[in-house]
Amino acid sequence: MTKKLVVTILAAALFSACNHSTQTSEEKRIDEKVDSVMRLMTIDEKIGQMVLYTSDWDVTGPSLKKGYIDEIRKGNCGNIFNAHTAAYTRKLQKIAVEESRLGIPLLFGYDVIHGHKTIFPISLGESASWDLAAIEKSARVSATEAAASGINWTFAPMCDISVEPRWGRVSEGAGEDPYLGSKIAAARVHGFQGDNLGDTLTILACVKHFAAYGAPTAGRDYNTVDMSERVFLDTYLPPYKAAIDAGAMSVMSSFNEYDGVPATGSHYLLTDILRKKLGFKGFVVTDYTSINEMVNHGVVANEKEAGIMAAKAGVDMDMQGEVYFKYMKKALEDGLIPMKVVNDAVNRILHVKFMLGLFKDPYLYCNEAREKREVYSPAHLDASYDVAKKSMVLLKNANHVLPLKKGEKIAVIGELATSTRDLLGSWKAAGDWNFMKSILDEIKTYNGDANVIYAEGCKKEGEDRGGFPAALAAARKADKIVMVIGESCEWSGEASSRTNINVPGVQTELLEKLKALNKPIVVVLMNGRPLVLTKENELADAMLEAWFPGTMGGKAITHVLFGEYNPSGKLTMTFPRALGQVPIFYYEKNTGRPIYLANPKYKSRYIDCPNDPLFPFGYGLSYTTFAYSDIKLSTTELTAEGELKASVNVTNTGNVAGEEVVQCYVRDLVGSVTRPVKELKGFEKVALKVGESKVVTFTIKPAMLAFHRADMTYGTEPGDFKLFIGGNSRDVKEVGFKLKE
Ligand code: BGC
Repeated sequence: MTKKLVVTILAAALFSACNHSTQTSEEKRIDEKVDSVMRLMTIDEKIGQMVLYTSDWDVTGPSLKKGYIDEIRKGNCGNIFNAHTAAYTRKLQKIAVEESRLGIPLLFGYDVIHGHKTIFPISLGESASWDLAAIEKSARVSATEAAASGINWTFAPMCDISVEPRWGRVSEGAGEDPYLGSKIAAARVHGFQGDNLGDTLTILACVKHFAAYGAPTAGRDYNTVDMSERVFLDTYLPPYKAAIDAGAMSVMSSFNEYDGVPATGSHYLLTDILRKKLGFKGFVVTDYTSINEMVNHGVVANEKEAGIMAAKAGVDMDMQGEVYFKYMKKALEDGLIPMKVVNDAVNRILHVKFMLGLFKDPYLYCNEAREKREVYSPAHLDASYDVAKKSMVLLKNANHVLPLKKGEKIAVIGELATSTRDLLGSWKAAGDWNFMKSILDEIKTYNGDANVIYAEGCKKEGEDRGGFPAALAAARKADKIVMVIGESCEWSGEASSRTNINVPGVQTELLEKLKALNKPIVVVLMNGRPLVLTKENELADAMLEAWFPGTMGGKAITHVLFGEYNPSGKLTMTFPRALGQVPIFYYEKNTGRPIYLANPKYKSRYIDCPNDPLFPFGYGLSYTTFAYSDIKLSTTELTAEGELKASVNVTNTGNVAGEEVVQCYVRDLVGSVTRPVKELKGFEKVALKVGESKVVTFTIKPAMLAFHRADMTYGTEPGDFKLFIGGNSRDVKEVGFKLKE
């Protein structure tokens, strides 16, 4: 019997045994089995498990390792990313299993960020739905399609909190709020992984980018991060923690430095915080060549030193850097890295491979028949449509311009109205824009060809005004104008920072010209970050924030515009009035000279712009209106072991059914350190028919009021609090309560 067969057989026996065991004994049994595999491994084979190479199918970073197939065969590469389809991954897996000495199966990673083939709205858009079940479903559908196409590992969810709209990667996250971000992170992990990693409908999640990657100085991607430890622990860490608590078994170290040390070499982040504080048991992979980049950061002189630093900090797997491949063995021989570091890393990686069921059936995730059935299935397209419509945020609707009425003559203007590529957003994974319908196609289908006049008017970028006359002529013939404006999908996502966050090119100029026609104008926005929309807000009668809504985006936008679905999305990032307000977020501190002081000059304010944003966090309109009663508290004194219930009665006071995201915030009035003016502590999305009322109740427990106090211990402080409930972070009802000793 070959050693390879021994591995496979032992592993298969293990897998069936652990199906019947409890979590702890399952972990123990897997460890025993992993040990038995590791005893057969050479040092080179162990290092091979710590290596991840991209295939040449898709390239998501600057360098490309050639000849990865040979390395798989030699046992020098245990993991591949950017390869997909059941057929291709099967081919690579076969090489690993049948041609490498021990036959250890490969992990296949891919950036399944908001869909695999069926693409959902970008993550920021999804977060605006505040619908955790829909978000979890989106992740599950993505996992199901990816898992059938050979993928068993996604580089998601991105759990980076950000208050930086200049940073293009806000499109990949859940916005600015740690509480909502944590709920969404957990929902996504559960969606991807389910309860059993060995299930063929689920894949391994990867919590990224650890840590604090969402706070680059000046909003420039990959730039340094500098924040206090308190801000890190209270604001930036919670969503990563929530994702790990939800069972995520891999974490990606980030590109940025934190407190002067690149995250990929940070023992503090990867060991003290991640393993010791958060209890993470899975493996850590670097971001793309981030070990090598520590040389550029200037904390090591060469790649070998970088590898040693990363390994000692807690990095288990080197993504595309070839540093572990080139230098690890020598570093071990020279005693620069203890063998235990490598053994622990390989143990963690193999452990996850066992959990994924790969030793039982290495081809579990490459199933052509399942791939055919799952990819673009009607149920998946429906799920994408559902999240897309829920993600849209109605920013303005003067004089009930929306919803449009079927049969009205509509002029559709703008390049983005016809672009299917842009509907998909950044990180489109295997999504295919030729498969989809544009916004214009869908409006025509819904409203009838004869009632729709299209003119491009201008491109989404550039200075060309040549199309203006045709757009004005089209608009003159119409009852209402729908202008689709915004950013190219390439303008957000990785390496897409901006120094201004206006609507690009001459789109707003054309809007201004259209305004002069005195016809109702509806602006549909496609963008991956908060934009400054001050001018557009003045010109448009209605504005719908549609983000990059995915494969079914054209239909979802059309249905929202025509009132088939009443918009219910709420912003998860603040939209500023002017770039100079950035960073602007709702959980700011009061300062010693708050804006409301009577003194006209010496207070914290701008002389050329109000302090408040154009659209606050949590904001979004509906085709109906909602009235909030005053808040009722079960008690005004919360004891250490007690709880407080805060209720409001919410009524649909308009003419159509609708959904409202009811939000609950608190403020700790006096702390040993200054406290935010508001912090989200709960939310509930309620559906209300015309005239219907519902009581919405939030439960506040003392633990929810904890923070890092002046001495850096974590806990609560007794004293006076305010509690707010409303439909956004600005327009709220308010009461007071006391937290007792
Ligand atoms: C990105 C990660 C991504 C990785 C693999 C990197 O450039 O920062 O988010 O998962 O590439 O594609």
